[in-house]
Amino acid sequence: MVKSDEKLAIDGGKAVREKPFPPRRLFGDDEKAAAVEVFDESIATGEAFGYGGKREQEYEKEFAERLGGGFAKGTNSGTSALLAAIAALELEPGSEVVCPPITDPGGVMPIVMMNCIPVPADTNEFSFNVGPEQIAAAITERTRAIVVAPIFGEPVDMDPIMELAGEKGLAVVEDAAQAHGAVYRGSTVGTHGDIAAFSTMYGKHYASGGQGGIFFTRNEDLFWKARRFMDRGKPFGTDEPNNVRLGLNLNTDELSAAIARVQLKKLPWIVERRQSVAAAVSDGIKSLQSVALGKIIPDAKASYWHMRMTVDADKLTVDKDTFAEALAAEGIPASPSYRHIPAEHVWFRSRNTYGSSGYPWTSPYEPLNLPNCEAAVARNFLIHIHENWTDKEIADTVTALTKVEKAYLK
Ligand SMILES: Cc1ncc(COP(=O)(O)O)c(C=O)c1O
Repeated sequence: MVKSDEKLAIDGGKAVREKPFPPRRLFGDDEKAAAVEVFDESIATGEAFGYGGKREQEYEKEFAERLGGGFAKGTNSGTSALLAAIAALELEPGSEVVCPPITDPGGVMPIVMMNCIPVPADTNEFSFNVGPEQIAAAITERTRAIVVAPIFGEPVDMDPIMELAGEKGLAVVEDAAQAHGAVYRGSTVGTHGDIAAFSTMYGKHYASGGQGGIFFTRNEDLFWKARRFMDRGKPFGTDEPNNVRLGLNLNTDELSAAIARVQLKKLPWIVERRQSVAAAVSDGIKSLQSVALGKIIPDAKASYWHMRMTVDADKLTVDKDTFAEALAAEGIPASPSYRHIPAEHVWFRSRNTYGSSGYPWTSPYEPLNLPNCEAAVARNFLIHIHENWTDKEIADTVTALTKVEKAYLK
């Protein structure tokens, strides 16, 4: 029931925004020139471009420098980067790995690929991210590692998690696929755990092309272990004459690295713009009673892969999904739900892994009891912001949020 005199677009009224939002325009002439240069060089020399070349090495150096120094290696996807990071831990089969409840399937499948059992922890009380207490509750005597994921670029509370991991002797992997440029207690996300994996596919903050990823660590031993796994077990960092372990070919290549180098230079601007868009929307709706930009942990700066919006449906005549659908009908790029819970997917529930073995699981699926996660999904929706929003997109979003709240406020 609409109480406002301004008819909502979802009910047939005029939408706040009729013109589509601007496209991201992630790739431009600079990326094209970098790619053409790779081809020009290849044509001039007569040699095909490959992988492990000068651009790739420069890119990895630049990436590591941006994180304050360490070791980085480009991969062909974020899933591959996480797989290499987990492989580097050399966990025994059947080890439990505490993981996020809300994440991309590529944030959990690498655990199972490495023959370990993913154990989703609950989220904290207010966001899509795991919290230290929830991780502590998921640890058993079989736990060997923890994977955390700063969802939407909102930092995870790493210090207590690292302390807990230290006490229990567990390794910590940061799956920072969505969190390029986010900051936790003064340093960049991806530098707090033992090793971090990032996605650089085209939908992320910056891209190496259509697909891509990169892992980073300050631990040289872990770096070589990941490096060997992601290139068929080649004996990098050893004196061995040939391949030293089981592995895959997860390499990136010279063309992707050329694009990624150009993109990486734009990353600070991309992150800054997204932060100012989020701040402006948040400021514009500060007098609203039922909806706000999602709360993040203290002493942290999100990099807003998406903008998480928290709704207090008790104050409304409709539920959160209807609120978000009404916002989308006003022409704002909003999605009602981010129910990305790998543990409720068919493959996880049916243990569809290796033949009919269900391996590495040894027991059938039991429904998870993650009350905070359920509440987070019920309370939050997302707005797909990007760095090329102008003041007009910000103003229209604020107007539409205000209009929708006015219509549905009890
Ligand atoms: C949290 C998280 N982990 C892992 C991945 C997998 O990355 P990719 O799609 O590059 O394989 C994604 C991709 O969206 C992600 O969001």
